[in-house]
Amino acid sequence: PEVITVQELANRMAERGADVIKQLMRMGVMATINQTIDADTAELVIAEFGHRVRRVSEADVEVGLRLNDDAETALVPRPPVVTIMGHVDHGKTSLLDALRQTDVVSREAGGITQHIGAYQVQLESGAKITFIDTPGHAAFTEMRARGANVTDVVVLVVAANDGVMPQTIEAIHHAKAAKVPIIVAINKIDLPDAKPERVRQELLQHELVVEELGGDIQTVEVSAKAKRNLDKLEEAILLQAEILELKANPERTAEGVVVEAKLERGRGSVATVLVQRGTLKVGDVFVTGSEWGRVRALVNDRGQSVEQAAPASPVEVLGLNGTPLAGDDFTVVESEARAREIAEFRQRKKREAANAASARGSLQDMFSRI
Ligand code: GTP
Ligand code: MG
Repeated sequence: PEVITVQELANRMAERGADVIKQLMRMGVMATINQTIDADTAELVIAEFGHRVRRVSEADVEVGLRLNDDAETALVPRPPVVTIMGHVDHGKTSLLDALRQTDVVSREAGGITQHIGAYQVQLESGAKITFIDTPGHAAFTEMRARGANVTDVVVLVVAANDGVMPQTIEAIHHAKAAKVPIIVAINKIDLPDAKPERVRQELLQHELVVEELGGDIQTVEVSAKAKRNLDKLEEAILLQAEILELKANPERTAEGVVVEAKLERGRGSVATVLVQRGTLKVGDVFVTGSEWGRVRALVNDRGQSVEQAAPASPVEVLGLNGTPLAGDDFTVVESEARAREIAEFRQRKKREAANAASARGSLQDMFSRI
């Protein structure tokens, strides 16, 4: 049922809360300022105050926000988006760092890199790969819980001297649940006690059948430390990407997902957004979660100010009116009025959910004290 708090209703009508409560009492409804009333009651109150009723339903607000209507002909290949997972200390961070250093563009620019939660590597061939720089399962599952499936490929890092460990198994489960293909990077092969064959055998027990044992899971023996076979790992990722036929329409208003967001001194709310479709441009008006804004500036993973960001590129967005959450959607809309309407609608829903939760909480409190 649609609900609104008495306070919210009063605010929207620009009336005093006490007057709304009095009106409700006259109608036989006892409610405090923080209580919620149903839409029909609210409508009656609004009419009593002589205001016009305009119900905005979820459908009104959200329909057409995200269109899946890209024609096949408008789709062009896009880079794959990769998340690195694996057991603690098996070398996720080291591997991300090493892969980043293979980027030909930043090598030319003098290797100045910026931490923005995701980065893109360009290979000698010109091919690009985007890495989500939030290693670990928590970020992956949190984003997925929020409905954001940003990852095309999971690179599972397994240390060759340690083998399959509890978090390796967890990562396999997460990737399988998300139906994301896995490539296994058998890391630390520079160590004398490295046993890559044993890793392949152990994976078998978790239904990951690697190519060497007749399956279709690619494995690459690497060393993040000695920078060995990083090119082979990248080739494996590109091969997997080719199989997936990853495409997006760059010629449309942008849609994406927030990978990371924070409030920064002197810069305001800053979000790292992974553009999924369309091209994000400076000046675009957008909604993200229950926040909105106008793109004031875009900063790429090399710390450079850019005018636009293409599909699968990560970019820092400045110009938000609030801080969204990782996993929130990011959608460009046609006007500030529309952006505000959607953001306010979502904020109201969020408050209602919070109120409902706290009402449940106090009920539970009451019962537990009996
Ligand atoms: P957490 O973030 O704590 O889960 O660890 P991680 O998976 O990010 O591992 P990290 O990259 O921090 O590496 C853990 C340790 O392994 C560090 O001491 C690295 O120097 C070492 N290490 C990583 N890759 C290699 C490798 O290829 N060879 C060797 N010999 N050591 C490595
Ligand atoms: Mg790490």
